[in-house]
Amino acid sequence: MIRPIIAANWKMHKTIPEAVSFAKQLKEEFPEPGNVDIVIAPPFTALSSVMEVLKDSPIHISAQNMHWGEKGACTGEISATMLVDAGCGFVIIGHSERRTLFGETGGMLNKKIHAALKSGLTPIFCMGETLEERESGATFRIIRKQIKEGLNNITSDDIRRVALAYEPIWAIGTGKTATPLQAQEAHRFIRETIATDLEYAHASETVIIYGGSVNPENTGSLMDQPDINGALVGGASLDFGPFADIIKISER
Ligand code: 13P
Repeated sequence: MIRPIIAANWKMHKTIPEAVSFAKQLKEEFPEPGNVDIVIAPPFTALSSVMEVLKDSPIHISAQNMHWGEKGACTGEISATMLVDAGCGFVIIGHSERRTLFGETGGMLNKKIHAALKSGLTPIFCMGETLEERESGATFRIIRKQIKEGLNNITSDDIRRVALAYEPIWAIGTGKTATPLQAQEAHRFIRETIATDLEYAHASETVIIYGGSVNPENTGSLMDQPDINGALVGGASLDFGPFADIIKISER
């Protein structure tokens, strides 16, 4: 039985007081572990303040990015060890905004996943196609390439500790969600690809979450799909009410 993940990706939003206030509300509303793992990914500046609030709660903290190096002359970067130090258990790797706005390549993401796992972080490894790629029938080819590059040389034992996120780029921040069937088809393909191409024997246990305009209205139908094990929520995670509703719907 897969334990779903509902994750909030706050991107470049929220000051420290705003992040702390949200974390306090979340802790109050979800004081005990439920049927899903709740993860919030604040900006770097708010990580340790949010950790102070959530340290005695079952809610997990994630970073939105990291560097693969341990330490050194890398101005502006943050290592996996620093994230663990700040209270993170998770890190989002390969979000399409990192790939497209900051030129992160499959090889770089692979190094990040190796480094995250080495430090004990759970990577949430994102993949997904552009609208152009979908319309030209390249969706599966792109996803397979992203999986093979990102998870290159990750052992089976380590893949157990990786969560995957399917985020079609055309659905991010656009209000256009993939239909539950489109998302299910891609999630099934991802599961099959890690089972066949990576010869991973426990693909049926891998958490694969969906991201792209998730909101309280579409959560139920997405979560009803057999290969969708949660959500990576952007816009709808910025306000407490809708994010709490998404968690409650997913717990049903
Ligand atoms: P939206 O929910 O705003 O579409 O963002 C999705 C996303 O990018 C989460 O990582």
